[in-house]
Amino acid sequence: MELNRRTVLAGAAAAGVAAGTLGGTAQAAPAHHRRGGRPVREPFGTLADGTRVHRWSLENGGTRLHVLSYGGIVQSLEIPDRHGRYADVALGFDNLDDYVSSSPYFGALIGRYGNRIGGGRFTLDGTTYQLSVNDGDNSLHGGAKGFDKRVWDVEPFTEGPDTGLHLHYTSADGEMGYPGTLRAKVTYTLTRHGEWHITYEATTDKATVVNLTSHVYWNLGGEGSGTVEDHELAIAASRYTPTDTGLIPTGERARVAGTPFDFRRAKPVGRDLRAGHEQQVRAKGYDHNWVLDKGVTETPEHVATLREPRSGRTLRIATDQPGLQFYSGNFLDGTLTGTGGRTYRQGDALCLETQHFPDSPNHPDFPSTVLRPGETYRTTTVHSFGA
Ligand code: GLA
Repeated sequence: MELNRRTVLAGAAAAGVAAGTLGGTAQAAPAHHRRGGRPVREPFGTLADGTRVHRWSLENGGTRLHVLSYGGIVQSLEIPDRHGRYADVALGFDNLDDYVSSSPYFGALIGRYGNRIGGGRFTLDGTTYQLSVNDGDNSLHGGAKGFDKRVWDVEPFTEGPDTGLHLHYTSADGEMGYPGTLRAKVTYTLTRHGEWHITYEATTDKATVVNLTSHVYWNLGGEGSGTVEDHELAIAASRYTPTDTGLIPTGERARVAGTPFDFRRAKPVGRDLRAGHEQQVRAKGYDHNWVLDKGVTETPEHVATLREPRSGRTLRIATDQPGLQFYSGNFLDGTLTGTGGRTYRQGDALCLETQHFPDSPNHPDFPSTVLRPGETYRTTTVHSFGA
């Protein structure tokens, strides 16, 4: 099976965008009143090694986005309800220290491999690679220091009616155990319709595996407003990948029909959350990969809709990826205090991570995540908002 939209290097370079830059100058003017203007940045803190972290503010088409150079983290995402009242619908923190010390990937870019690789090990072209293990025996979200804990180079752009950021990070050969120097570029675009597009691109100088995603914790009632069990969710998937006790796919693609995993028609997240299905008990809720019916596609196709009934806020997700990890915030345990000063408890948010299937490097019959020199990994996910 092919990675979606593989192109040769030259093609990817030709698609590059001529983007303006702010140079090194900090511009602290709030972006809140800007519409389709150039993104602005302000200091957000300093890491222990002295590296300065910035927060970028973007606004377009009614959507407001704040992004950190640390982890490419979406620190807040504000959208209006049906009365025009804004809320920050992404869990996060108001300070850098909390992100560094205790974030469960709030809003972060995930790489080099989103989700788990069983035993933290895989074999490619006859060589076995041992990865950084950080989740029992497994490697989760790229290992102990994944892309979520790296400082990205950020370059703002405006292009026609769109505004956005290019984020660059180069992962060294051997970093977290992965082979090959991986040059990653992620583009966050806000369109004039307020859509948030993420395009991930990467090249390598040795055969490797790659699976990039975004780990926003959604609560369309507003972060800190309580449970998302009332949110209605629909996922266009007839099958999901059951897991073993370490949350590694068994390899099976089980039917959702007649199980709590059936979200083909919208239903409240909480409806079947306590159904006692063995897979849910194992994961403390939903923490599974849905096998999207559309499979790998050339362009993003609609795969999921999330709606919060009281505010009317709606999120629609389109992707070219074959899988969607739906995680129901099972490990939030009331120990973290978020952006607005409220505590986050179990089920106070959910994640919808567009991706290749977890542990694909160890499942030859799953769509391939192998990237070879001369190829460009390129994938796009689109988030549309309404009320
Ligand atoms: C992903 C995983 C979960 C959990 C969260 C972060 O969604 O699938 O098991 O690790 O990230 O806490």
